[in-house]
Amino acid sequence: MGDFDEFTQDNNDSILKNIADDLRNCLPLETMLFSERLALQKIQQRPEPTVHVDAFLYDEDFIDSLCEEGKMSRNYCMVCGSHQTAPLGFISHSFSLMELKFIYHHVLPDLSGKLLVDVGSRLGTVLYGGYLYSSALQLYGVELNGDFCQLQEMIIKKYQFTDRIKVLHADICTQDALLQNADVVIMNNVFEYFLDEVEQARAWEYISHNVRKQGSLLVTVPSIEESLSGLQVCKPSQHFYCQHFYSTFF
Ligand SMILES: C[S@@+](CC[C@H](N)C(=O)[O-])C[C@H]1O[C@@H](n2cnc3c(N)ncnc32)[C@H](O)[C@@H]1O
Repeated sequence: MGDFDEFTQDNNDSILKNIADDLRNCLPLETMLFSERLALQKIQQRPEPTVHVDAFLYDEDFIDSLCEEGKMSRNYCMVCGSHQTAPLGFISHSFSLMELKFIYHHVLPDLSGKLLVDVGSRLGTVLYGGYLYSSALQLYGVELNGDFCQLQEMIIKKYQFTDRIKVLHADICTQDALLQNADVVIMNNVFEYFLDEVEQARAWEYISHNVRKQGSLLVTVPSIEESLSGLQVCKPSQHFYCQHFYSTFF
């Protein structure tokens, strides 16, 4: 890689880190909103005590410093008052900066002239990463939660990403034309925490029906098999499984 490329890379990382600073200042530490009751309940129902720590906003070093300041803990007390502790489960509703770089630099091909859709764009990290780390012509985020759409609009305006990024405040199940035109569809654990099982099954069937463009790619985390297991969903066609599918392995 030439000096100039390296400089641009570093600069893009810095821009994403500045965006994370801006978002941290607007959001509570747990990065979950009042409007996300179902997601909060589902985290509380997990077998091991679990907290949501957004991987884009808080990397490992940041978490360590918060733990040192006593603002966060990696452990929970198993027997109140005793010294027995166990590690808390952490989940993230965003990709980390490293995961975003991995997707754009190593998972996806050259996106020049392509349309990418992030289903459930939340803080917008996939869109900002796509703007800085790829040549995608258009990056669309579709997000059900209006509060997160406003946050994304704020960042897009501040960092002047408006020429290539658009955010739609909508249920993905109303976006047939967008999905049919998409060259790349990203789905990072979109439905599991946010929809009940009947709605999840319906949404997957809608995706399966509409992600159809010749040569299009679907990137899912976790794998599509894992996402569909336990749901009453008509088996997606071979076309859906084979033509379009990239499953990343974080
Ligand atoms: C795990 S987050 C994904 C975040 C982001 N794509 C990333 O990878 O950093 C899932 C998001 O999907 C949104 N969501 C869930 N169901 C949706 C639907 N049917 N249509 C649009 N957004 C949806 C949720 O509100 C949540 O913000």
